Amino acid sequence: MPKVTVHRKAHFNAAHRLFNSNWSDEKNFEVFGKCSNPNYHGHNYELIVSLTGEVNEETGYVYDLGKLKDLIQLKVENVLDHKNLNIEVEEFKNLNPTVENISVVIYNKLRASIPENLDLEVTLYETPRNYVTYRGA
Ligand code: NI
Repeated sequence: MPKVTVHRKAHFNAAHRLFNSNWSDEKNFEVFGKCSNPNYHGHNYELIVSLTGEVNEETGYVYDLGKLKDLIQLKVENVLDHKNLNIEVEEFKNLNPTVENISVVIYNKLRASIPENLDLEVTLYETPRNYVTYRGA
């Protein structure tokens, strides 16, 4: 059967501060600039979750996009939306909430719930022009 990639878009707002606790405020500001503002700042994150696999002969689906929507809501939006990532999200207590690290956290949250025969890719936009992709590695 042909292999097809299906995509689901989602969205969340969150606040963060880019910060390395081993560095002084001066060094943090030097490296992270405005993103190191001690009073935090927000982003409108756009998420695309992509699953690649063979089209099922019986359903014609790679994966039910309604199920994927619910999964993203449960595992990602409910956990990250309208949160201060540094303070309120366990994974970032000791992990700098860069868009890179957020994409890896999202991937790990979803991977366990996606059938093993499907490849998962997470695309995460922090701004309309800055985005990352993560496929697990
Ligand atoms: Ni930022």
